[in-house]
Amino acid sequence: MLALSNILVNYDGSRILRDVSLTVAPGQVVCLMGRNGVGKTTTLKSIVGLVKPVSGSVKLNGQELVGLPPDGRARSGVGYVPQGRDIFPSLTVWENLRIGAIAQGKRLNGELERVFELFPVLKEMLQRKGGVLSGGQQQQLAIGRALLTGPKVLLLDEPTEGIQPNIIDQIGETIKTLRGIGTMGILLVEQYLDFCLEVGDVFYIMDRGAIVAEGPIRHLNDDIVKQHLTV
Ligand SMILES: Nc1ncnc2c1ncn2[C@@H]1O[C@H](COP(=O)(O)OP(=O)(O)OP(=O)(O)O)[C@@H](O)[C@H]1O
Ligand SMILES: [Mg+2]
Repeated sequence: MLALSNILVNYDGSRILRDVSLTVAPGQVVCLMGRNGVGKTTTLKSIVGLVKPVSGSVKLNGQELVGLPPDGRARSGVGYVPQGRDIFPSLTVWENLRIGAIAQGKRLNGELERVFELFPVLKEMLQRKGGVLSGGQQQQLAIGRALLTGPKVLLLDEPTEGIQPNIIDQIGETIKTLRGIGTMGILLVEQYLDFCLEVGDVFYIMDRGAIVAEGPIRHLNDDIVKQHLTV
């Protein structure tokens, strides 16, 4: 469903992504792992359209996304929860939730109830400003906002970063619930190994801009972890 082929990205003349290829199928949770600065966020940005690859292809259900602007890609079904969450601090939870869907001219009906089922805390806090929510609540808001755009593939950039364990568990359960629906693929950038082992189906590991290991998550053994993930 989502297929990246041979993505090359340069920043200021230095090569940041080298031939990155990966696929995410519906109902699958794919973990993209790797140490700091290896190119994980840049990979997501090239899917979302915030970074322009020198060459390579990004296809969603066969449709080429390279060349489309970010809003066009969102309409095509790319949902994105950026690293650091990027919610609007001075807008209310309600306004934050609606903003993505409104930008696409979508009406919210059943989807909103679905998001409140996944994250009941959001329903209680609809009139609060986004900026006063805790880190975990902001993460839930950012995921909820992305879901309301009706994505075919959901990109999550380090959703557990700086979040307390009980909220991490809740986000893990949410990811499993979304996987269980079976229609959406999830590409999860994550450095927290246990979380990947818990929710992932497939892993890819990056090092210095390239995919250096990949396979079903049960093949992720100590040797691979030592070689590519521990610092
Ligand atoms: N806008 C930019 N201009 C120049 N270099 C950049 C830019 N954004 C990222 N880089 C560089 O590209 C490389 C990959 O960055 P990226 O953010 O993709 O890494 P990452 O794997 O997501 O790291 P982290 O785990 O710390 O989030 C890094 O060396 C970074 O310094
Ligand atoms: Mg990053």
